[in-house]
Amino acid sequence: MKTILVTGGCGFIGSNFVRLLATTTDYRIVNFDKLTYAGNLENVADIDPTRMRFIQGDICDRELVERILGEEKPWALVNFAAESHVDRSILDSTPFLHNNIGGVQALLEAVRRVGVERFLHISTDEVYGDKEGKAPSNEESGLAPSSPYSASKAAADLLCFSYRRTYGLPIVITRSSNNYGPYQFPEKLIPLLLRNGLAGLDFPVYGDGQQIRDWIHVEDNCRGLLAVLERGQLGSIYNIGTSEERTNLAVVETICRAIAAHQGVDAEQITARIRYVTDRPGHDRRYALDTSKVRNELDWAPQVDFPSGLQRTVDWYLSHVDWVGRVTSGEYRKYYESVYTQSWGKSS
Ligand code: NAD
Ligand code: DAU
Repeated sequence: MKTILVTGGCGFIGSNFVRLLATTTDYRIVNFDKLTYAGNLENVADIDPTRMRFIQGDICDRELVERILGEEKPWALVNFAAESHVDRSILDSTPFLHNNIGGVQALLEAVRRVGVERFLHISTDEVYGDKEGKAPSNEESGLAPSSPYSASKAAADLLCFSYRRTYGLPIVITRSSNNYGPYQFPEKLIPLLLRNGLAGLDFPVYGDGQQIRDWIHVEDNCRGLLAVLERGQLGSIYNIGTSEERTNLAVVETICRAIAAHQGVDAEQITARIRYVTDRPGHDRRYALDTSKVRNELDWAPQVDFPSGLQRTVDWYLSHVDWVGRVTSGEYRKYYESVYTQSWGKSS
């Protein structure tokens, strides 16, 4: 039985990927996670313990990573570990550069010394930058990151490919669009709206709400990641997305209607709580991915349509009120204040 070392497997996408591995494959999983504010052991509490070893550790700690690679001799390493929230990178870029670039460098060095057969690095469509009025990005498109977060991700991608060319490491990279689904930390748009809906708070929309995103259900992305891990060409990049475009405002209004239905009140009562707030500095207007490569080469296609995926997500959050309460206690409140009350850390 092959082992896969998953770094960042207690976060949103990582925990969904671990669940996919545990329920649909025979792989043994080593879940290596620092458990930052965004990582939570509760996210993998349902995973069969005979299938998964958990190690609390930091990808920046090269010696520890090297030791674990030596002990476990995994077939593959899949790296989800990162600081992932654009807004936090605007408040303070330091942990983004440290973890997303320094951490990846430490992983690459450890792998260079010990070796794995495949190294899947999880990147993002944000590395291509703002696509307003432009053609969708394919895997050959240039990098033009706008935020400290996306700049750190673009740097990590370049570092990975430099290790492929220089040392022959078995690198493959995925760049996906916006994921949604269960276990997403309520700082990101969809779970933040649901958390605020439950708490009777307003729904903050940055700027005019006409920014465009491509929302992919996390289970579809995870199926794509597994296909790339098992069958993707080494040295390649694969975009993963639905290629459906929605404005933020359309997403917010859909969620308001779902909350109204759940609470048995008129939708207007809920939509009246939409608030236009100070825009995210440097906010990209549109992301758009050309996903023909993963579809044609690996026969992958999304299976979850947005209305039913969103309804399932709404139902999950409404039935996990305790989880939402636990992960948003403490530090979250300070963060929320900085962005939404103090308008990006400046007193208004
Ligand atoms: P997340 O913030 O929910 O989870 C990140 C996980 O990584 C957490 O469990 C955290 O504890 C862990 N982690 C952070 N720094 C670490 C370190 N130094 N060592 C070990 N563990 C560490 O993130 P997510 O939304 O699940 O994103 C996962 C990956 O996918 C990230 O690399 C992100 O850039 C990328 N991505 C996310 C999306 C999205 O829509 N969420 C889309 C495209 C790409
Ligand atoms: O595109 C992939 C990226 O998607 C990933 O690389 C990131 O890790 C992930 O966080 C996500 O980034 P976004 O910035 O697109 O996601 P977020 O959920 O933060 O915001 C989605 C859109 O909604 C964006 O245009 C900003 C807007 N927004 C967000 C929040 C939190 C609001 O209007 N109000 C809000 O309160």
